[in-house]
Amino acid sequence: MTTVNPAAAVQITGLQKAFGDLEVLRGIDFEVARGEVVCIIGPSGSGKSTLLRCVNLLEEPTAGQVYVGGVELTDPDVDIDAARRRVGMVFQQFNLFPHLSVLGNVTIAQRKVLRRSAEEADRIARDNLVRVGLADKVDAYPAQLSGGQQQRVAIARALAMGPDVMLFDEPTSALDPELVGDVLGVMRKLALEGMTMLVVTHEMSFAREVADRVVFMDGGVIVEEGPPSKVIGDPAYERTRRFLSRVLDPAAAEVEE
Ligand SMILES: Nc1ncnc2c1ncn2[C@@H]1O[C@H](COP(=O)(O)OP(=O)(O)OP(=O)(O)O)[C@@H](O)[C@H]1O
Ligand SMILES: [Mg+2]
Repeated sequence: MTTVNPAAAVQITGLQKAFGDLEVLRGIDFEVARGEVVCIIGPSGSGKSTLLRCVNLLEEPTAGQVYVGGVELTDPDVDIDAARRRVGMVFQQFNLFPHLSVLGNVTIAQRKVLRRSAEEADRIARDNLVRVGLADKVDAYPAQLSGGQQQRVAIARALAMGPDVMLFDEPTSALDPELVGDVLGVMRKLALEGMTMLVVTHEMSFAREVADRVVFMDGGVIVEEGPPSKVIGDPAYERTRRFLSRVLDPAAAEVEE
C-alpha cells in the first residue's frame, strides 16, 4: 500500500512499463519535492523518455502509481485532462504549429483546453514570452525563428498552461551548439524561480550547476541518485562511471573500446 506524500510534487511508486515482451521500466520509485530540479541521465534505451511519458500519461504504466501534487494520475477514475494540465512537457522536437504565429502557438491550448478568453490567453502568452526572452517575436512564424527560439516558444507554451511540474526530454539535443546556451539559460531561470522540473539531459555542466539531484538510470531501473557532486563527481557504481566517461569524453571512451 502506497503512502501518499502530500508534500511531493511528483511521487512514483513501483512503476513498470512493458511494450509486449520488452520490459522498459522495471520498478521505479522516486519523489520530486516542490521546487526541486531533478536531472535524469543514462544511456540510450534505458527508459528515460518512457519514464517522463508515464508521468505525463502519454504512456499507460503496466504497474505502479504516479502522483502529481497528491493526485493519482494512474487512478482509473481520475479526470485525465485535468491531471495532465498539471504537467508541462517540452520535447526534443519543438512540435510547433507551422501555420500559427508564436502568439497563436502559445494561446491555442489555453483557448481550447483551458477555455480561456482570447484576451486572457493573449495576456498570459505575452507574459510567458517575456519570461523566455521572446517578447519581440509574438507575431513571427516558427519558420522565421532559430531552433533555440522555437524551443523557447515551446517552453512558453507549456508554462502558459500553469503547470505544477515541467518535464523536459533532451530539450537541447536537436539544437546547434551555439543555440543551446539560450535554452539552458531559460531553464536555469525557471529553476531559480522555484519551478519543479524533471529534466532528461546529456548536458552534464547544466546538471552539475542547476540540478538539486541527479538520477542515473540504466536498463529500466534507477541505479543511483544523489546530489550532482556525488552522482556526476564521484559515482558509486561502475555502470555510472562508464556512462559518464562516454558522455564527458567520447573520444577517450572510443579508444577504450
Ligand atoms: N511505443 C513503444 N513501443 C515499443 N517499444 C518502445 C516504445 N517506446 C519505447 N520503446 C522501447 O523502450 C526502450 C526505452 O526507450 P526510451 O525512449 O524510454 O529510452 P531513452 O532512455 O529515452 O533513450 P534515448 O536516450 O535514446 O532517448 C527502448 O528499447 C525503446 O525501443
Ligand atoms: Mg529518450
